[in-house]
Amino acid sequence: MPNAETAQTAALTKTLERALVHAKAFFEGLGERRVGSDLTADALRRTLGKPLAERGVDPGQVIDELVRDADAGLHASVGGRFYAWVLGGSLPAALAADWLVSVWDQNAGMFAVSPSSAIVEEVAGGWLKDVLRLPEHASFAFVTGCQAAHTVGLAAARWRVLNRHNWDVEKDGLFGAPSIRIFTSSECHTTVTRAARLLGMGSGCVEFIPADDQGRLPPEALREALKTHAGPKIVVLLAGDLNLGVFDDFERLVPIAREAGAWVHVDGAFGLWANASGRRRHLLKGVEACDSWATDGHKWLNVPYDSGIAFVADSEAHQAAMTSRASYMMDEGVAREQVDFNPEFSRRARGFPIYAALRELGREGLEAMIDRTSDHCAAIAAGIGALDGAEQLSVPEINQALVRFLDPKPGATEADHARHTDAVIARINADGEAFFGGVDWRGKRAMRISVSCWRTDEADVALTIEAAREALAAV
Ligand SMILES: Cc1ncc(COP(=O)(O)O)c(C=O)c1O
Repeated sequence: MPNAETAQTAALTKTLERALVHAKAFFEGLGERRVGSDLTADALRRTLGKPLAERGVDPGQVIDELVRDADAGLHASVGGRFYAWVLGGSLPAALAADWLVSVWDQNAGMFAVSPSSAIVEEVAGGWLKDVLRLPEHASFAFVTGCQAAHTVGLAAARWRVLNRHNWDVEKDGLFGAPSIRIFTSSECHTTVTRAARLLGMGSGCVEFIPADDQGRLPPEALREALKTHAGPKIVVLLAGDLNLGVFDDFERLVPIAREAGAWVHVDGAFGLWANASGRRRHLLKGVEACDSWATDGHKWLNVPYDSGIAFVADSEAHQAAMTSRASYMMDEGVAREQVDFNPEFSRRARGFPIYAALRELGREGLEAMIDRTSDHCAAIAAGIGALDGAEQLSVPEINQALVRFLDPKPGATEADHARHTDAVIARINADGEAFFGGVDWRGKRAMRISVSCWRTDEADVALTIEAAREALAAV
């Protein structure tokens, strides 16, 4: 090897070895470190906010100092006791594959640009449709997250529903086009609206139909709402809402949407994964009859960020909405070209970590992870709910639940309970054994319990309930 190349390789491997030392220390210290960072933005600005020097710094030193300065501002969300939001952690093979994605630094735009990246997506896409029980013929896109997957699914929907009205949105845009309405439940995640905004349909096109007392979209209300719009229609159904993990009734809703000529898109950011579990699959009955589905790899599948997946049954609409070509691209036509399905041109090879996670788990391991995390969520909700001064607000069917804490003073109002709930959450988080977030839910303030990390175990469940007991006693 020429000298310069030897030196370059030595610099790369030496720096990666530093990163590995820090990674090991991070994982080995995970059990002891506080779960949520309590560092202020100003404290982090003081450590990370250095002036950019004229002269560069040794790469190993950059990494050492980056870790030193950033460490206390990291949440231990890859550990077993982080329950705020739906974050998930990283399975070993998924994490290692993600490192290699950076080492290989492929541009996964097309087969010609990175052959293995293209084929790994072909294979992983097939596996995903299999474990998620989606139609074999559906096309797919590996994107940055569920919001991006919504954008892809709704772009395909926009193309198809306008095509049925003889309008070519890809050529003529939306000025003068028949107006599209999106119908969904009041529980719909905010990212659906943002996808509609990004696609030029505007937040005003989204009509929220009040959910029933189970948090589901009422079929008759959908039928009536669809009658109010003669133009192109899209229905967005939920496979697992953020608070209770509630599923819309696909079997009843999809035929209603079909009758009205609507495209049906599914927000299954995490809930779609329940289809990999024999015990939980009944919650998704009929979901395979929809037109497009959005989910995340970085939540319940436990691959590192950024990882979302869109599936589209109508591959023609999917490609029409996404494809892009230039004469220099070397389209060989021998493989699935990612550029036909993804919104990006150059892109990270996101298939590898998903491929690695699915191989590490196998069907059984995936099912076990979905069931285990859901069972732990139920145990935490029941355990905390049984504490004096706590109230369990939901019995989870998947990995999301709510509890709250009641102000013990006589005549306490909802506002008092809300303050008390926030105070207990803050105390648990400050104590550092576990980390939760709060939410406004049906006129109540509640604590969300989201168990999405593969690492959560029985010991974490017990420690978490004890942390809540201590916080309750202290507040
Ligand atoms: C139900 C639901 N849909 C969509 C999203 C958006 O996912 P992402 O942050 O991966 O874009 C989330 C994120 O929390 C979610 O919980």
